[in-house]
Amino acid sequence: SLPERVTIWEVGPRDGLQNERTTVPVDVKLEFLDRLADAGLTTVEATSFVHPKWVPQLADAEELLARLRRRDGVRYPVLVPNERGLDRALAAGVTHVAVFASATESFARRNLNSGLDAQFAMFEPVIARAREAGLDVRGYVSMCFGDPWEGIVPTEQVVTVGRRLLDAGCTQLSLGDTIGVATAAAVERLLDAFIEGGVAIADLAVHFHDTYGQALANTLAALRKGVTTVDASAGGLGGCPYAESATGNLATEDLVWLLDGLGVEHGVDLDALVETSRWMSRQLGRSSPSRVVRALSG
Ligand code: HMG
Ligand code: MG
Repeated sequence: SLPERVTIWEVGPRDGLQNERTTVPVDVKLEFLDRLADAGLTTVEATSFVHPKWVPQLADAEELLARLRRRDGVRYPVLVPNERGLDRALAAGVTHVAVFASATESFARRNLNSGLDAQFAMFEPVIARAREAGLDVRGYVSMCFGDPWEGIVPTEQVVTVGRRLLDAGCTQLSLGDTIGVATAAAVERLLDAFIEGGVAIADLAVHFHDTYGQALANTLAALRKGVTTVDASAGGLGGCPYAESATGNLATEDLVWLLDGLGVEHGVDLDALVETSRWMSRQLGRSSPSRVVRALSG
């Protein structure tokens, strides 16, 4: 059976723009955020408070949030790796943060300059302080299926990392297929392992990159398991600068098309979203990889 309603967690302004070769002007980012909210998205991941040398594309996080016209009923979560990031996010008035853990040693080193075990020492005080301040805290787990340096990632290893984030106080987990290698059977296996480990399906989100064209099939597998939060990026923007072979996220338009066909509610206006992605394509000077955006652009 399928859920009646799904929350689309829009990551285009963060996961999408963090990987752009050029730095997008803050005015364009603000218009992008406005247009996404106008299209009916209620969760729009706005930016990251990471080290500006690591991700220069998001170095304008303070200015962006200071100028952001926050809409009623729209959440604007941001990524924070450490206490310095949390301090910056709190000063900017955020209500929702996300830490981002790795399921593998190799990616923890490359993405966080840390380690599989050591990363928790960085996250635990962040999660505790954020919860004390009344914030929701999402915990991403990256490389849940495959890792470019380590190959197939054991399910047990992923569940252990996820459980540690929940035990530390995260209010939701987002299971990331950072390099897009998962297939539907692997998604079912991982979700089953979390459920068997006592994690509620309502606390799990899925985050698929579409490198191998599997993101929609993987999403359907997750929906059938009862997942009700799905990450996607408008126009299929995205990728991780610290993960080899990571391309764009599942396109929000492709997800909306699937959900419409399934009769699952989501609240997004597809035409307004496609128009937004076409506008963004012009800003970036390249066409959207989303099949639905292309099909509707005739
Ligand atoms: P580090 O160099 O080890 O940091 O980086 P440090 O703690 O040693 O500090 C060094 C200097 O950086 C210090 O300054 C700190 O104050 C400063 P100094 O005293 O030398 O003048 N610093 C900061 N400045 C601003 N904001 C901060 C911050 N932290 C330290 N937050 C660090 C460690 C974690 C900061 C670095 O590795 C980093 O920023 N990594 C972020 C990488 C990233 O953003 N990756 C993309 C997001 S993850 C992703 O895309 C996957 C996802 O989509 C899910 C999926 O697809 O799987 C979420
Ligand atoms: Mg990602």
